[in-house]
Amino acid sequence: MSFYEDKIFPYFMEKATKTFRREIAELIAQAEGRVLEIGAGTGANLGFYSAAVMEVVGIEPVAAMLEKAQRVVQQTGHDFPVQLQVGDARALPFEDDSFDSVVACLVFCTIPEPEQAVEEMRRVLKPGGKLVFYEHVASNRPRVRAWQKRINPLWRKLACGCEITRDTRCLFENAGFHYQHIKDFDHPKVPPLMAPIIAGVAVK
Ligand SMILES: C[S@@+](CC[C@H](N)C(=O)[O-])C[C@H]1O[C@@H](n2cnc3c(N)ncnc32)[C@H](O)[C@@H]1O
Repeated sequence: MSFYEDKIFPYFMEKATKTFRREIAELIAQAEGRVLEIGAGTGANLGFYSAAVMEVVGIEPVAAMLEKAQRVVQQTGHDFPVQLQVGDARALPFEDDSFDSVVACLVFCTIPEPEQAVEEMRRVLKPGGKLVFYEHVASNRPRVRAWQKRINPLWRKLACGCEITRDTRCLFENAGFHYQHIKDFDHPKVPPLMAPIIAGVAVK
């Protein structure tokens, strides 16, 4: 990883995603049992888990981000074990049907070959297990979508692989998830190209 990816991008990522945190916190409170958080980043969500959680396992490919997340774990002092490890959502080193919940927040914009990651999430979730998600996605509005497509190549470079053109709602549906609840909206406090959000819980 480069200095930009290890040090500079994580700083801007934390600032840029602050606006979403209150909503993400409310959503993550719905995770329960044994939880897998994919793309845990710098650990921005690790303080949001409720007493319904027994254990959190976080995976993240960027080791420098995980070091920061590890400090969050030490400062938070959870009542349940939190285990963080370097890993890739496309090849999860866990057994089938081994988690009650999987949390994916602002991560399906960035994972290369997201189809592989969603299959892996389904594999490790127990039947009836929950996928708790909060993702920025492609707009439903043709003009905004066209601008997202124009800007995406530059954005991808600046934001370490993040794409603003992903249809993550379809991705989850095509993988066989059923929505328990989903909110599909434009966030009022972020620029239009990043504003389309899907947030909710889907069930295996
Ligand atoms: C915008 S950040 C969000 C981080 C964190 N989920 C949050 O809410 O702050 C996207 C994250 O996805 C991670 N990521 C990228 N490719 C991944 C992959 N193949 N598997 C798992 N995580 C990945 C990035 O390293 C980064 O930490």
